[in-house]
Amino acid sequence: MVPFQAYQTPTAFKHGLGILSNLADEVKALGVKRPMLVTDPGIVRAGIADEAMNVLKKGNVDFVLFDQVAANPPVELVDRGAALFKQEGCDGLIGLGGGSSIDTAKAIGVVAKHGGSAVDYEWADPNPITVPIPPLIALPTTAGTGSEATLWSVLTDHERRIKFNIGGTPNIAATVALIDPLLTINLPAHVTAGTGMDALAHAIECYTMAFAQPFTDAVALLAMEYVGQYLRIAFAQGHNQEARYKMSMAAMLGGLAYGTDSAGAAHAMSQTAGGVVNCPHGAITARLLGPVMEYNYMGEPQKFARIAVALGEDVRGLSVWQAAEKAVEAVYRLTEDVEIPTLQDLGFSEDQIPLLAELASKDPQTIGNPRDINTQGYIKVYQHTFEAGRRSK
Ligand SMILES: [Fe+2]
Repeated sequence: MVPFQAYQTPTAFKHGLGILSNLADEVKALGVKRPMLVTDPGIVRAGIADEAMNVLKKGNVDFVLFDQVAANPPVELVDRGAALFKQEGCDGLIGLGGGSSIDTAKAIGVVAKHGGSAVDYEWADPNPITVPIPPLIALPTTAGTGSEATLWSVLTDHERRIKFNIGGTPNIAATVALIDPLLTINLPAHVTAGTGMDALAHAIECYTMAFAQPFTDAVALLAMEYVGQYLRIAFAQGHNQEARYKMSMAAMLGGLAYGTDSAGAAHAMSQTAGGVVNCPHGAITARLLGPVMEYNYMGEPQKFARIAVALGEDVRGLSVWQAAEKAVEAVYRLTEDVEIPTLQDLGFSEDQIPLLAELASKDPQTIGNPRDINTQGYIKVYQHTFEAGRRSK
């Protein structure tokens, strides 16, 4: 049992179809005079950055554009952004994009306020992040990472070949999460799939791990229900506004389920593996989720049985154990239905298993996983995931 628990988030959550049009007013309401718009070249190409900039210009908001965010944002990128933030006299941040852009905006805020480099703020006890970042508006353009709701920023350290977390404190949270599901309408199906499965992984891992608590359990269960009901529809019918809206809410709820704590073995694996092979976080997390659940379910059978119900499985007449197994099957089926690539497709090879398992065992998210796991356990799960990948070919 975890002795003392708390839940705190300072973020205001505002959502609606077209709510991007309120961006300038939100900036002004925060008293920000010169925000830095943090985004990536894909968002610029998609025309979404222009949409946001037009709203800012119409509202006479002076801003600085930083559009160099890359997937799995590296430390150097954050440090460069923080230098520009100071040089340009910025006083607030807008994170526009998927998890990478919002995480970069958070981390720029940390470095801009504290000095040094992002690498100096890796989570530790006591937390090196001691004061709040400048006001941050998070505008997600995918429905998955939930970064707009989490107290974390995930960065890549190429020197150590790992991804690491900074945060775990309300000091890094977005001030406002401005969630406009219309921004996700044109996402390609494979991005919808990977990011949506990431939201599901947040919900399932946080619900079953040792740090779970009633507040986060409640939001995690609804996130699972939404993913179960709407991910296939959003994947099959990208323009379906109801499915997009519910997936945006699922991502937000999944992010809230993170709380101030962490996820579990699937994220310990996907985040460390993402430092070895540069691949989309959602896709790799999704591919690992089923095998991790299969490994974990015997630690928390009641909770896994309830996951099956949340995902729409019919568990009438089943024992708790049978129902728990249904949760695992449901996630495997969803993974295949939304065509998640295999580890092999993502660029991994089986000879990397010892390295990947070793790195995962050192990730702090290993602590609290619903079933005890060490390097040997991770080797088994990786082997199993590669096997499952061969079968799905
Ligand atoms: Fe994730």
